[in-house]
Amino acid sequence: MLYIGVDLGTSAVKLLLMAADGTIQNVVSKEYPLYFPHPGWSEQKPEDWWEAVKTGIRELTADADKSQIAGISFGGQMHGLVILDENDQVIRPAILWNDGRTGKETDYLNNVIGKEKLSEYTANIAFAGFTAPKILWVRNNEPENFARIKKIMLPKDYIAYMLTGSFCTDVSDASGMLIFDVKNKCWSKEMLEICGITEEQVAKIYESYEVVGTLKPEVAEELGLPASVKVAAGAGDNAAAAVGTGTVGDGMCNISLGTSGTIFVSSEKFGVDKNNALHAFAHADGKYHLMGCMLSAASCNKWWMEEIIGTTDFGKEQAEITKLGENNVYFLPYLMGERSPHNNPNARGTFIGMTMDTTRADMTQAVLEGVAFAIRDSFEVAKSLGIQIERTKICGGGAKSPLWKKIMANVLGIKVDVIKSEEGPGLGGAMLAAVACGEYASVEEAAAKIVEVVDTIEPDPELTAKYEEKYRKFAKIYPTVKDLFTEIL
Ligand code: XUL
Repeated sequence: MLYIGVDLGTSAVKLLLMAADGTIQNVVSKEYPLYFPHPGWSEQKPEDWWEAVKTGIRELTADADKSQIAGISFGGQMHGLVILDENDQVIRPAILWNDGRTGKETDYLNNVIGKEKLSEYTANIAFAGFTAPKILWVRNNEPENFARIKKIMLPKDYIAYMLTGSFCTDVSDASGMLIFDVKNKCWSKEMLEICGITEEQVAKIYESYEVVGTLKPEVAEELGLPASVKVAAGAGDNAAAAVGTGTVGDGMCNISLGTSGTIFVSSEKFGVDKNNALHAFAHADGKYHLMGCMLSAASCNKWWMEEIIGTTDFGKEQAEITKLGENNVYFLPYLMGERSPHNNPNARGTFIGMTMDTTRADMTQAVLEGVAFAIRDSFEVAKSLGIQIERTKICGGGAKSPLWKKIMANVLGIKVDVIKSEEGPGLGGAMLAAVACGEYASVEEAAAKIVEVVDTIEPDPELTAKYEEKYRKFAKIYPTVKDLFTEIL
């Protein structure tokens, strides 16, 4: 049988067709616009996602034996607020995971309701990108829209709803809403009340590998697929990427270098750190995970390459970089503010340390290193919790760059395992569909049979020592300039 994985990303939807044994038969990508209507705001139109998914599925399956397609599932950009009215019309553009407009609401939740209570109810504290502060923002700023809300959804759940008519979500994505009791995997009554919403307005919760429905007959016809195709709940993109890289079970690590950058540690047991510096979320394998998320990772490099120096030849620019560990230019990668560990929507991108002999290659290198150092910030938090990480998987667009993977291995001082396919969330989505259709007994079994490590990048002790020193310097920059960010807004 065949399975479709839908990676509903921020720059594009990437769709993947997987055979039962994990072989990838086709991959298709469809872009859609991203809107920044004010500095720090970030929106997309759910209708654009839906059109791109439909076109993408048709293209993906054009040459396939459609009678063999058994299941579809997702890895979706997390935390985005999608609101529908009583006629199932989208009320306003979705407010995305990297939107920083909810500073006041986040402060209200953390300081008036209080971090302790939030952590007790949800296992997490408020970050500007989470869904609950956005619900409060709509209530405070667009009361007429708030009054019309019939259904509150996450991005990939909107696609599942359009495909099947099932109003559903999964435990991993629901975890990032801050209205979900992660430990007990149910909605938090207290948080629903704090946000002024009811249980009728939120979706039914599933494990990521559970079937939520089959295709609506009219959608099946439009897509040219059998109406018997099962749709599984799927997962937030990071949990799906973890499945796609075999980061399941206990103590495994994955780094994703996509629009965002994340470090993800799987765990058999539920656990929260006392400062809630890392997100404590449910995992798509039925267990839990801890995660640090930086808001701009591969997107910093894309911005630097395409918007600033004006090239799309990333490989050529990176080939000019020859002095690893010796760069005196530093870059703070906070182009959309920062989530982990600083929790500061006002933080901004910053270059520091240039001299007259600084080259274009030094600046490019600083961008790649700045992202690696910022991932290290969350890695340090994980280490401070006693979590031992000796190796990690890696995925996402940034993982295509051999140089960036080398920088990552040496900045973290750990082995980086490269997977045959770096299509993390799309592959994970297809694997979840395969589990839901009974092809594999569990997510762990699917990962063991499908995921293949093809290379390992070993850290070089000399370079790691140089980067250790560089990281100590990098770590001093944010605290020094932090207050300025608010002043210069
Ligand atoms: C995770 C997060 C991002 C998005 C990107 O908490 O906000 O990784 O899921 O799509």
